[in-house]
Amino acid sequence: METVLITGASRGIGLELTRQFLALGYNVISTYRGQPSVQLKSMLVNNSLTLHELEVTDEASVANLASKLSNVQLDILINNAGVIGSDEQSMEAIDSKEWLNTFAVNSIAPLMVSRALLGLLETSTNPRIITISSQMGALNRESYGMYAYRSSKAAVNKVMQV
Ligand SMILES: NC(=O)c1ccc[n+]([C@@H]2O[C@H](COP(=O)([O-])OP(=O)(O)OC[C@H]3O[C@@H](n4cnc5c(N)ncnc54)[C@H](OP(=O)(O)O)[C@@H]3O)[C@@H](O)[C@H]2O)c1
Repeated sequence: METVLITGASRGIGLELTRQFLALGYNVISTYRGQPSVQLKSMLVNNSLTLHELEVTDEASVANLASKLSNVQLDILINNAGVIGSDEQSMEAIDSKEWLNTFAVNSIAPLMVSRALLGLLETSTNPRIITISSQMGALNRESYGMYAYRSSKAAVNKVMQV
């Protein structure tokens, strides 16, 4: 069975992806920040799940994960970890530092994590990298506000296309 790695799996979509991939029989490597959530830890009753800490914007944390997994054949990487950004993202209120933080997580980290795990993916006969974007980043949809989130998802679309 294939092995899938899911970032940002303590809650939300990452947690549900973990649950569903385990139910399908995959070997699942899920990552969390700080401490894994109770819900994520409870899934460890399934021996096909392993958990690792990962702060996607921290190069040392990314390198540490890659070295811990050096013997793993990785088939699917899911860059799921993401942030919506600050509450105030109107033209009048957006804060440039908060905007940069949103880019760090949503646009830059997916490539950095992918790059660090590329060697593991290359051992698979059918490697895939999946990055969770958003329709809010689509250039062909009329959009208002949410500058940081929308632009970070538009950017990651191009990163992954490249
Ligand atoms: N929910 C939606 O309707 C929707 C729609 C379109 C796209 N998306 C995208 O889908 C993905 C998941 O969304 P969600 O709704 O499940 O979000 P969520 O509930 O806010 O969960 C986000 C997850 O990402 C983790 N994370 C955030 N920053 C991180 C960092 N710097 N390093 C490591 N992990 C980090 C969080 O960890 P902590 O638990 O430690 O905070 C959390 O586990 C995101 O990329 C989001 O943009 C969501």
